[in-house]
Amino acid sequence: MQINFTLNHKSVSVDAPTDITLLALLRDHLNLTGTKEACEVGECGACSVLLDGEVVNSCLVAAPSVMGRDVVTIEGIHAEDGGPNDLQQNFITKGAVQCGFCIPGMIIAGEALLAIKTDPSRLEIREALAGNLCRCTGYMQIVDAIETTAKERVGSRSPQKMEN
Ligand code: FES
Ligand code: FES
Repeated sequence: MQINFTLNHKSVSVDAPTDITLLALLRDHLNLTGTKEACEVGECGACSVLLDGEVVNSCLVAAPSVMGRDVVTIEGIHAEDGGPNDLQQNFITKGAVQCGFCIPGMIIAGEALLAIKTDPSRLEIREALAGNLCRCTGYMQIVDAIETTAKERVGSRSPQKMEN
């Protein structure tokens, strides 16, 4: 079946079996391996992507169901120069990346939260990450990175004081 959808802001058309998941479509048919494959039953969040702006576990999404829809994977999140964006840089700076396996999903969940909530509390950040498991960091540094990014983004949008 030909599946046509928007992937990381570009139209794609891919010929794939009808009985595979979005996770398999991304990894095995589009070679986008940033989205991680772990539990495959919707419990770990390693496979998180944005589907029409909402976080979904791509291991639970049937590939044909993305027809005509908008998918963003970790490969679609970066700074203008292709390097880490501010959230990704804060994950690095705050020591929120250890083995790294959960990080693509954490970044996806973090960006989804920041898109709807400019100044989330630490509790709200933890709730937004509830579907994403990390076995390394204890989560505190991850929450720090998202909180810092929120504050920086709010600060960069604030009107600048006029210089005399
Ligand atoms: S691999 Fe999809 S939730 Fe774990
Ligand atoms: S950094 Fe290793 S699982 Fe999160």
